[in-house]
Amino acid sequence: MHDFQYRGDELFCEDVAVRKIADAVGTPFYLYSRHTLESHFQAFDSAFGKMDHIICFSAKANSNLAVLRVFTRLGGGVDVVSGGEIYRAMQAGAKPEKIVYSGVGKRPDEIEFALSQPILMFNIESSQELVLIDQIAGSLGTKAPVSLRVNPDVDPKTHPYISTGLKKNKFGINIKKSVDDYILANTLPNTRVIGVSCHIGSQLTEVGPFVEAVQRIKDLVARLRAEGIQIRYIDLGGGLGITYNQEEPPHPREYAEALIKELPGIDCTLILEPGRVIVGNAGILVTKVLYTKEGGEKNFVIVDAAMNDLIRPSLYGSYQRIQPIHKKDRVEIMVDVVGPICESGDFLAKDRKLPKAESGELLAVMSAGAYGFTMSSNYNSRPRVPEVLVDKDRFYVVRRREEYEDLIHGESIPEPLK
Ligand SMILES: Cc1ncc(COP(=O)(O)O)c(C=O)c1O
Repeated sequence: MHDFQYRGDELFCEDVAVRKIADAVGTPFYLYSRHTLESHFQAFDSAFGKMDHIICFSAKANSNLAVLRVFTRLGGGVDVVSGGEIYRAMQAGAKPEKIVYSGVGKRPDEIEFALSQPILMFNIESSQELVLIDQIAGSLGTKAPVSLRVNPDVDPKTHPYISTGLKKNKFGINIKKSVDDYILANTLPNTRVIGVSCHIGSQLTEVGPFVEAVQRIKDLVARLRAEGIQIRYIDLGGGLGITYNQEEPPHPREYAEALIKELPGIDCTLILEPGRVIVGNAGILVTKVLYTKEGGEKNFVIVDAAMNDLIRPSLYGSYQRIQPIHKKDRVEIMVDVVGPICESGDFLAKDRKLPKAESGELLAVMSAGAYGFTMSSNYNSRPRVPEVLVDKDRFYVVRRREEYEDLIHGESIPEPLK
């Protein structure tokens, strides 16, 4: 359930008409509902009930400060993959002891920054990274808390670009080989081994692959304990999918029950890193129709949002529902909804039957709260769009629209070219 619903013919976000926000901030813009964010977080959190756990929201899905703040106020931690995300999490009020740092290519400066906080743990993705973190921790006179991100070789049955837990993927350490790395980690002077982690992919719509992964992790924990290596945290990553179109992913309750069932008496704190399932359906992208035209073979609806604002359809061929902000009786026609960018790959929908759009009207691109703004760019020198948060009957611009000056911020023309 989410808070983007029609009242009569008008689309509302909680108690605010979307049109009213468009009049105030212009288009395009991202729009989030605080109530949806909170209720999704709480549904996920409560699904794990009495099991000792920390929900570390995955900042890559949506890293706006106000959005992160919603979760840190509810006691959530943050899963980060860069120094920049650590900085954001801290600015949003996250407790460092609830930050987990994943990522396949951590740079030395990022490692130093993370060690200065100090965070809950590094999810380490290679033996070289392990040794480097140990060295840096030593030079700073501290100890690095670590878990190894293992690759359990489980097929998550999702888009290849967001599958991460297969042997052929660049992520994590092969689960079989990881025992050697754990033994090494346990001997390093500036490293404290505390956990095991994994993340097998995103937009999973079945519990089976999660269960398979957790079974392999459980076996690994038993093996490590037999080697005298203490494991106190099991981080199962994120990945639970949402309904964009016809998908029927499991409810967080069903997902949590399936995982907990595999871990009786495990005596560990469970860490979960959900992203999409919390924010995906808590946000929309609002765009205006600039023009409509009939091509040789197709009808086009040209809107003011483009692949630089929401890249998911172009990158993964993914489906985003599109609906009018103002409903009225009209015929439906087959269209491509496209943006102004100079690429044929710039589309938000292809071959989609939609109510015949009119120039100047507003459309809502639904389920755009995850991997929407965070994956946006300035391609074609398009200023990035604002982000707006609705709280009951009020709305707040939580990131302003970029201006032309922002586009060249930090650039300069060298002396010989002047
Ligand atoms: C390490 C890690 N944790 C968590 C997530 C969040 O995944 P999702 O948004 O599918 O829940 C990702 C996303 O790819 C990830 O790479």
